[in-house]
Amino acid sequence: MAKTARAHTNIALIKYWGKRDQDLILPYTDSLSLTLDEFYTTTTVQFDDQLTEDRIVIDHQDMPLANMGKVVTVLDRVRELAGITTPAHVISENHVPMAAGLASSASAMAALAGAASRAAGLDLSLTDLSRLARRGSGSASRSIFGGLVQWRRGNDDVTSYAEPILEQVDFGLEMLAIMINQDQKKVSSRGGMQLSVDTSPYFAMWPNVVEQDLTAMQQAIAEQDVATIGQIAEANAMRMHALTLSANPPFSYFEPATMTAIQAIQNLREQGLTCYYTMDAGPNVKVIYDRAHRDEIIAGLAPIFGQDQLVVAQPGPGITWLEEDL
Ligand code: PMV
Repeated sequence: MAKTARAHTNIALIKYWGKRDQDLILPYTDSLSLTLDEFYTTTTVQFDDQLTEDRIVIDHQDMPLANMGKVVTVLDRVRELAGITTPAHVISENHVPMAAGLASSASAMAALAGAASRAAGLDLSLTDLSRLARRGSGSASRSIFGGLVQWRRGNDDVTSYAEPILEQVDFGLEMLAIMINQDQKKVSSRGGMQLSVDTSPYFAMWPNVVEQDLTAMQQAIAEQDVATIGQIAEANAMRMHALTLSANPPFSYFEPATMTAIQAIQNLREQGLTCYYTMDAGPNVKVIYDRAHRDEIIAGLAPIFGQDQLVVAQPGPGITWLEEDL
């Protein structure tokens, strides 16, 4: 039977950057994220005896299987758990404001884990779903849950999974995405983090940095202190990006407009607004801010980027299953 699941993307406040085990996707460190309501993936999976191989349709396009390694990895793991060899028909739709993803692999792999496991007749716990989604994409382990979520790095496949630390985030924490460039990135997160692990002389420090940032972040969350949350997230993101700049060969996900956004946010902050920035493996900037300042922040950014490049997102929910298939 076909099953359909929906999962939302997440943006890390404390970044995951580096794997200890590339096959199982075990990270060097914990990470912590906010799930967002505005960006999500809906996926229907049916295991079908009539097929001779997996068929994967994303945003109405049949995808060449050769490019679908992460999807097939998750499907293979589901087949292994369910004891079947049947090919799967996967239909997936990404709901992002513009073509090409903003952290779409997180929502995609989480929705796939939810739909494929149920389609295969498995009834996995959320913890086991998080472990399954992790096999597709590390950050996807966190998209099983809503709100603020921590991925425990664990020691092995069984102990590396995410758990919610605050599902209802109602103290004014919000994010705004500044859409700078939606083209496919030149250096994948997977390739970029491995190059950092292998060649950055600073990588040895990264696990300690994350541990300190995490402790401070947990404290700030407990105090519902948006300014401190933003401050720590911004510093942690820049420390992550320092691992790309210090790799050999050096690389960066920043584009000129990324720097323009950073400066604009710094200027708004000097004017007394609570706003900070974070970036992932791409040029788009996410603003972390206090909802009370939203209108003024948008008013400050709109002359530079245009309203249509600014997308407000609220804290979002964890995985859900839908009655209607795609
Ligand atoms: O899960 P991946 O392979 O898409 O890597 C995610 C890496 C970052 O987005 C930069 C950080 C994170 O923790 O999400």
